[in-house]
Amino acid sequence: MDIFAHRGVSEHYPENTGAAFYAASKLPIAGIELDVHLSADGELVVIHDETIDRTSNGEGYVKDFSLQQLRAYDYGSWFSKEFTGENIPTLGEVLELFVGTAHLINIELKTDVFPYEGIESLVIKEVAKHQMTERVIISSFNHESLQIVKQIAPYIETAALFAEILTDFTTYTSQIPANAIHVSLPAAARKSVRTALEEGATIRVYTVNDIEYVKPLQQLGVHAIFTDDPVKIAEKLHGE
Ligand code: G3P
Ligand code: MG
Repeated sequence: MDIFAHRGVSEHYPENTGAAFYAASKLPIAGIELDVHLSADGELVVIHDETIDRTSNGEGYVKDFSLQQLRAYDYGSWFSKEFTGENIPTLGEVLELFVGTAHLINIELKTDVFPYEGIESLVIKEVAKHQMTERVIISSFNHESLQIVKQIAPYIETAALFAEILTDFTTYTSQIPANAIHVSLPAAARKSVRTALEEGATIRVYTVNDIEYVKPLQQLGVHAIFTDDPVKIAEKLHGE
């Protein structure tokens, strides 16, 4: 069972920052996950929320700021004084950290609130520029975005994100189409996920921070988990 560092090593570093991804790049784990939005001037920026309110000292929607305006704020001090000065990275800056590694990169397109028209092709171009097409997984809760990715670049792995528990994950996912299924932790133990696994689906589970779920998920046969604390989870997975 693979481990992905969710928003970087976000338990110990401010999520979706250079510090969190640099820490992840040094770990012997399968991959990382990051979230992408589009700035007012069309730059791909790595941040989870639609606004900068929670994870910076500023306020407002990402979509209303240029990259330069976004950079005026601090994205580390909300987490700890120690990280004052952390900034909002572009997708390209995060990919740069992984040029010399073998990590898989799960890029989550945060297009479920604002569609950020054109974001899919911008992400595909950025990934190609870094020659990372073969180790990128593009996921989204907005499955229309995944259709667009498949139309532009059918060779890129896509994953449908689900907050809900479907009755039949594989039929639905094959219609998008998407290559993998990313489900929430509560969904993972349900019959429909077990059936999907039996049918050969690739299943990854978000977000697993409690070690008590690690072994049961491994026994279930899920392919990967996303966690904020990859070192702790890896110890539980490999240590006993
Ligand atoms: O991609 C897995 C997980 O990140 C989805 O939820 O809200 O943490 O982006 P969220
Ligand atoms: Mg995410």
